[in-house]
Amino acid sequence: MKKKAAGKFQLDCSVNGARVRREIAASRTMLEFLREDLGLKGTKEGCGEGECGACLILLDGRAVNSCLMMAAQAHGREIVTIEGIKGRDGGLHPIQKTFMEEGAVQCGFCIPGIIVAAEALLRRKPDATLEDIKLELTGNLCRCTGYEKILSAVELSRDELKKKGKR
Ligand code: FES
Ligand code: FES
Repeated sequence: MKKKAAGKFQLDCSVNGARVRREIAASRTMLEFLREDLGLKGTKEGCGEGECGACLILLDGRAVNSCLMMAAQAHGREIVTIEGIKGRDGGLHPIQKTFMEEGAVQCGFCIPGIIVAAEALLRRKPDATLEDIKLELTGNLCRCTGYEKILSAVELSRDELKKKGKR
């Protein structure tokens, strides 16, 4: 990470496949950087302290809470937000389609984080069991759905993604 002026960093990273170079305050969180500087509002701020998972993003393919991460920590790394999770045709990702079809979304506030968590899990573990899914989603709070439909939507997403040509 290159220091620029006192309290500033010249950040150079990839966000949703595009190179981003910005001078940022060293104190900027990744959540602030995405929402306020880049206008990527799909990443939500719930608790702001690592408890709810609404702010999850992929950092080099791993799900991380962007409220707990400084933007400068992304230097030289690859960020994917919910806006970057797409199907191969550029439309909805199979996980997003399944959530809609299963009615697993109510107010929707928690859903970007849950889809990011599901994508991270199914990338690294395409055969994830229901127990794996429950474990992955322990950091994602939903105040609306009661989780049953969310869990079944992730299981159906796993099955869809395993079909040839879905990823
Ligand atoms: S806003 Fe980051 S975990 Fe809740
Ligand atoms: S759908 Fe409303 S918080 Fe989860």
